[in-house]
Amino acid sequence: MTGAKSRLLLIDDDSNTLAPLARAFRLAGHEATVCDNVARALEQIRTTQFDLIFSDVVMPGKDGISLLEDLKTAGITTPVVMISGQANVEIAVRATKLGAVDFLEKPLSTDKLLLTVENVLRLRQLENENLDLRRRLGRHEFIWSGTPMEQLMAQIDRVAASESRVAIQGETGTGKELVARMIHHRSARRDGPFVSLNCAAVPAELIESELFGHEKGAFTGAMGRHIGKFEQAARGTMFLDEIGDMPLAMQAKLLRVLEEGEIERVGGERAFPVDARVVVATHRNLEELVRQGTFRADLFHRIYVVPILLPSLRERAEEISTLANYFAAQVASQNGWKERKFSPEAIDTLTRYPWPGNVRELRNVVERVLLLSGNDAITADDVHKALPALGVGGDAAGSSMGTLTERLEAFEKGLLLAELRHHHHHMTNVARALGLERSHLYKKCQQLGIDVRSERKSE
Ligand SMILES: Nc1ncnc2c1ncn2[C@@H]1O[C@H](COP(=O)(O)OP(=O)(O)OP(=O)(O)O)[C@@H](O)[C@H]1O
Ligand SMILES: [Mg+2]
Repeated sequence: MTGAKSRLLLIDDDSNTLAPLARAFRLAGHEATVCDNVARALEQIRTTQFDLIFSDVVMPGKDGISLLEDLKTAGITTPVVMISGQANVEIAVRATKLGAVDFLEKPLSTDKLLLTVENVLRLRQLENENLDLRRRLGRHEFIWSGTPMEQLMAQIDRVAASESRVAIQGETGTGKELVARMIHHRSARRDGPFVSLNCAAVPAELIESELFGHEKGAFTGAMGRHIGKFEQAARGTMFLDEIGDMPLAMQAKLLRVLEEGEIERVGGERAFPVDARVVVATHRNLEELVRQGTFRADLFHRIYVVPILLPSLRERAEEISTLANYFAAQVASQNGWKERKFSPEAIDTLTRYPWPGNVRELRNVVERVLLLSGNDAITADDVHKALPALGVGGDAAGSSMGTLTERLEAFEKGLLLAELRHHHHHMTNVARALGLERSHLYKKCQQLGIDVRSERKSE
């Protein structure tokens, strides 16, 4: 048995079939609902989520085949097993074409029925897992086209095959994490772990223990030994995300680890070697941070061995068509929607937008386009409607994107929204990232009509 209790719906006009069936299922721990006609069954299906439906084929009024047709039209995907007294190959074939998962002949044995429930539900579970896995893998696929990116991909391949440290730079949403994972998966360490730490998301006082671990009693609250990320990444890749946000004190400790190849747990007595390849990423300009004195020059030289610079989407505008249509297909398949493509005018509109949130933002906009419009090919107007929050929709929608001032405002607003999301609406961090005073940041949001509180809620 699958162990879990399942909700079954049994449809048959013959109560002599229904009653013993329902009893057998209930005895086996399932929940069984019975219906003696298809019309009532359809009402039940509309209000209750069943795991599996058993239906007779020949019934007065609507029969089992029209049940299958109705479910298909309504887009309901609950598996249906047909049961029939007068087995007939033609009907069985029709039922299968309409999506029935099995066809059983009466008289029915309890064992056979319970086995069918188990098999169908296990298959469904596997299908769901498979879909989930494909979705997750799909999320990690790096899509590109065009010659400049081809050169970058070749560079990524070369660096992946080496053991060098890699520093990935690029604006928010350009795919830095995807590239870090790709480097790991194409390296000799692919069977080892890929462990990541976002230096901007962990409070300064916790970074050391997160990275290097701690011994029991190392500090108040250290109840037991904690294995740090560096140790977890042994024989794999340690991805230090947002390295530009690492506090200076921690930079000194990281430098020692990179120089000596050894780590020491907080409160530990001795250092020991670690074998993790270090890949770092940042959306900031590290050289500039070094000049400002917020990033150590010696650490910079240690990690900036092979720099990979991911261009912004504005600089890769010729790829927008490939990316937009890829995301449209992906979003449609994830939601079971019909696949739709962007018209050339729609692509043109996308291309003229500045994309401060880069590919991540493009993906979100594509999703919004598909949600908000329902035509066949996606039009320029559909795209305009999906961009209102960024100030280029509404009245500006149509042939032009507004005056220079309007466009600059739209750009500024988009940039602020992207930074807010990136920093989970932590105003101090956003202000720091943009080099603004906090009070100025609040004023700017107000001017541009950004309601930080409601943005934060919708995160
Ligand atoms: N080339 C690409 N192909 C497919 N999807 C992409 C690509 N680049 C980015 N994405 C999408 O954008 C999202 C963000 O990518 P990723 O997290 O790698 O960006 P990032 O540069 O690390 O951003 P941040 O600086 O905000 O952390 C991904 O989840 C993915 O959906
Ligand atoms: Mg990232």
